[in-house]
Amino acid sequence: MNFKRTLITTALPYANGPVHIGHLAGVYVPADIYARYLRLRGEEVLMIGGSVEHGVPITIRARKEGVSPQSIVDRYHEMIKKSFEDFGISFDIYSRTTSATHNKLASDFFRKLYEEGKFIEKTSEQYYDEEAHQFLADRYITGTCPHCGNEHAYGDQCEACGTSLSPTELIHPKSAISGSKPVMWETKHWYLPLNQYESWQRQWILEEHKEGNKRGHEAWRPNVYGQCKSWLDMGLLPRAVSRDLDWGIPVPVEDAGGKVLYVWFDAPIGYISNTKELCEKYPEKFGSWEKWWKDPETKLVHFIGKDNIVFHCIVFPSMLKAEGSYILPENVPANEFLNLEDDKISTSRNWAVWLHEYLEDFPGKQDVLRYVLTANAPETKDNNFTWKDFQARNNNELVAILGNFVNRALVLTEKYFEGKVPLAGETTDYDRQTWAEFTRIQKELERLLDSYHFRDAQREAMNLARLGNKYLADTEPWKLAKTDLNRVGGILNLALQLSANLSIAFEPFLPFSMEKLRKLLNIRERFVWKDLGRADLLPKGHLLGKAELLFEKIDDALVEAQVKKLEDTKKANEAATYQTKPIRESISYDDFSKLDIRVGTVTACAKVPKADKLLQLRIDDGLKGRTIVSGIAAHYKPEELVGKQLCFVANLAPRKLRGIVSEGMILSAEDADGRLSAILPDKTVRPGSEVK
Ligand code: MF3
Ligand code: ZN
Repeated sequence: MNFKRTLITTALPYANGPVHIGHLAGVYVPADIYARYLRLRGEEVLMIGGSVEHGVPITIRARKEGVSPQSIVDRYHEMIKKSFEDFGISFDIYSRTTSATHNKLASDFFRKLYEEGKFIEKTSEQYYDEEAHQFLADRYITGTCPHCGNEHAYGDQCEACGTSLSPTELIHPKSAISGSKPVMWETKHWYLPLNQYESWQRQWILEEHKEGNKRGHEAWRPNVYGQCKSWLDMGLLPRAVSRDLDWGIPVPVEDAGGKVLYVWFDAPIGYISNTKELCEKYPEKFGSWEKWWKDPETKLVHFIGKDNIVFHCIVFPSMLKAEGSYILPENVPANEFLNLEDDKISTSRNWAVWLHEYLEDFPGKQDVLRYVLTANAPETKDNNFTWKDFQARNNNELVAILGNFVNRALVLTEKYFEGKVPLAGETTDYDRQTWAEFTRIQKELERLLDSYHFRDAQREAMNLARLGNKYLADTEPWKLAKTDLNRVGGILNLALQLSANLSIAFEPFLPFSMEKLRKLLNIRERFVWKDLGRADLLPKGHLLGKAELLFEKIDDALVEAQVKKLEDTKKANEAATYQTKPIRESISYDDFSKLDIRVGTVTACAKVPKADKLLQLRIDDGLKGRTIVSGIAAHYKPEELVGKQLCFVANLAPRKLRGIVSEGMILSAEDADGRLSAILPDKTVRPGSEVK
């Protein structure tokens, strides 16, 4: 297909919390790389972003914080917008779905479909809270999970066992708003009959966007294509496009009191509204918004995470098709998920690296994170972010390859040529071979960028820097300085031209560092992608800037602090989810009186060799003394215990632990996080005193 321009959309995040590395890795960095690349190619491109400000996730957050939904979205919209700016995500617009433009466009969209009879109306029964006088969204109903017995399951999902539920499956349902028992009430909603679009979808997705299709359309990624296929194979059902909620865009038909557009109906229309807002503000620069959304020569690409595939590949295109005047996405390069230190990123468990916090801890290091996230981009499968890998990629790749190469070229030029670009002189076979290799890598880089393989593309860009390092290592200009300064000039000229080329090749990936590199090279003009591969980007005699390091090493202490922060989070989570154990079956006084609990004084204590957990204690029990082996080594140092009085079960039958006969058991309390704390008598008592 030949397109004239590209419209890039990025999933609009809910304005109900800050954004983290998972957002960046899954959607915004890849979209930004693509947008920057196309702009460098001189193509006409728009990149659209914005916050989703309607929907239950917003009202839940508001309720939790005891404030209005409006104040939630005002706060987080600004915060999210700032994070994206800080990380160089080059949106042409970042707006919000509470804008007036959006409100009108989404209402008009709905009304058009309504008037043309594209919806069906259905009445169904839904839980209603009679005390709060409102219908309850699935998330607002809690109850016992029928699968695992968790008493705090939600109407849409049980977070304990991960099963997705419908509210009627919950045992003992309860309204999360008033706590009352909800009742079934009838309610009418509008549905988009997706089933009517099924055969068209099968043709459009499964045929036209299949690998190797005849129409020259882009093939969708296997994960995207596969998910669509399994949805279509299961058969599509009508989907409700309205909700009973007091936060959202009112359903624009008569007698729809109290109903709003379902957030998944209004949110994707936000892509259109935000484009419209931008184009109406800068008509000379961007032209009409219809050109972007209605001209088949516009290539529409949705960047999203995998949880959004159905909405962007099936539901939204059906809405666009039903409306009739819009183009459809040419590609939907959805990413899988990024995990953090082998655990699923979770906002509610605070298991995330928040972008605003990262910047506080690593000021000026946006590109390092961009680089690491792209290097681990979850393009084909879930991937993992670890702080160790973050450090290694910075130190071994950004610093040791890219930064090192550029720095050597600059420093050597300073040393031998007063910081001025020397004459290229005669080129050797090896020089020509180096440029040929450059061209080969460049072609590969372009092929990968054009096909949304950003992880591999970045690897090729790094290969260009590797090529430079190899060139300097092989030609060893520092050894030639005494005998052949002309050739040294030739070598450094080539190394500097390569450096200037790197400033183009890495621009989509590392925009901040490439700006700095241009400063180091004292490049004023704006190179474009077409310049890539030129051996004359820097003219002879061009004065370079002062050599400075492009990247700095990150030392152990910095990443250890991050790991510690996550460990603390984990502990806090364990403590927060700790549930006091129910009391066990009751026993008779006789049963109790069989237990002989005593106080003893620790006279000696040592670690049991080759057993991490065990301490061996010698106890003065007022009789002939005894030895007890106890699993408290992780919680007490042996010397801490000597002299202390402890309680122990004195008549437990002796047993052998690691070859030592243990005569009794030390009593201790187990804290929420598993820490043990020995039980001490409040005042010193005679060793052997009974505990009753
Ligand atoms: N807010 C949604 C999410 O986080 C994404 C919305 S994308 C849009 O999953 F298409 F609706 F805008
Ligand atoms: Zn469950």
